[in-house]
Amino acid sequence: MDRRQLIRSVAAAATVAVATRPEASAAEEGRFPAGFLWGTAGSAYQVEGRTDRSSDCIWDTFCRRPGKIKDGSNGDVACDSYRRYAEDVALIKGAGLKAYRFSVSWPRVQPAGAGQADPRGLDYYSRLVDALRKAGIEPWVCLYHWDLPQELQDRGGWTERATPERYAEYAGLVAKKLGDRVTRWLTLNEPSVHAILGHGLGQHAPGLQSRAATMAALHHQNLAHGDGVAALRAVGGRKWRIGAALSLQPARPADGAADNVPAAQIWDALWNRASLDPPLLGTYPAILAAELEKLLKGDDLARIRQPIDFVGVNYYNPMYQKRDPAGLVGSNWGAVPDRLKRTGLGWPIDPDGLVEVLADLRDRYGNPPLYITENGACFPDAPGPGGRVDDQGRIAFLRNHLAACRRALAQKANLQGYFAWTLLDNFEWAEGYTAPFGLARVDRRTLKRSPKASYEWFARMARSNKLDP
Ligand code: GCO
Repeated sequence: MDRRQLIRSVAAAATVAVATRPEASAAEEGRFPAGFLWGTAGSAYQVEGRTDRSSDCIWDTFCRRPGKIKDGSNGDVACDSYRRYAEDVALIKGAGLKAYRFSVSWPRVQPAGAGQADPRGLDYYSRLVDALRKAGIEPWVCLYHWDLPQELQDRGGWTERATPERYAEYAGLVAKKLGDRVTRWLTLNEPSVHAILGHGLGQHAPGLQSRAATMAALHHQNLAHGDGVAALRAVGGRKWRIGAALSLQPARPADGAADNVPAAQIWDALWNRASLDPPLLGTYPAILAAELEKLLKGDDLARIRQPIDFVGVNYYNPMYQKRDPAGLVGSNWGAVPDRLKRTGLGWPIDPDGLVEVLADLRDRYGNPPLYITENGACFPDAPGPGGRVDDQGRIAFLRNHLAACRRALAQKANLQGYFAWTLLDNFEWAEGYTAPFGLARVDRRTLKRSPKASYEWFARMARSNKLDP
């Protein structure tokens, strides 16, 4: 549809809209609700670099294990955002974005994971918060994005029931330092992914391969979430907005086959419900309850179910599961329908899956305030002659998922904002630097930031609050 056709269709729709509900005209113009929050995101280990961080996190250790990282890299340099954060803030401001979700490196703040804080760590985040606020960008602080202090891992990490208490102490430290300027907080990033890939499948740090470790890491991160909310409330009370960023992806039976339905159901319980149900419903999903409830002590479920103000949805793609007795929970990745296009990492592209997730949150969880706290895609991103990346694949991905957000809004999803993952090409975990997701390219030799076509496109959306203005 070219611009003339679009104008004619909007004009026609506006005529129709006069006869129906007034909000319909805004919907047909492609407009998002007034006050819809447009932002972008990153995480400490993926962007900061090692400068001034005096102790290891589990990813430093994991990266030293041969074969674990595709290009043999690590986060020692990353995007050097610890020193170049002003450039990042300028990029965020240049796109007209009003929020930046970043994570705090626990070992940068508490090198031993407990006790004495390193002032250089808290001072860095204070500088970053000041720079964001000066640029009119709201800081959204995620307290934990997978980079556990190695010293805590040496004492059991998330399989250890004492770790949530260490986490709550750390949360209180950060809240007291930044709380005079930060009011938006996320306790954890994707606890289920961290539990499954890091403790069950051995594909992420700390590299464990144990069903029991997976369940313990799930439950103890849920406890940490609840204790973290309580620690934040103790400083900021109800005027702060607190939530968590959860990986929520529909789990479907591979090939639509009936004997793969149980595999999809248990994977849905493990990947989605085991970190969504406890904080929102105060229960574990029935399929896994017997196993997870063995870990409960006293009022654990009440401890986890602290009132929160929003749910962060990290959406990428639906998951197709097949029956596999050798799998972590008797399931494994199965065939993806040929009809679905793929990203550069082979992930299926299906915006309808996002509508499904948001409708499920509306129908099963009381329609809480929602933010898409991650959505984006990896594509090869070869720079053109002038070094500019014309990433039309990423623009199509973002457009189609933002259109899905609008469909969900029309179906009364309580969606309040969208953070594109991610500002910069960065350390993509086990993929190293081989899987760019950024709105801006980072030259690995010079670390120069170069906006891609998707950066300019996304900036237009954010400024106009409309899809494809
Ligand atoms: C995740 C993490 C991000 C990833 C992004 C792309 O969701 O896995 O939060 O750190 O980089 O999702 O995989």
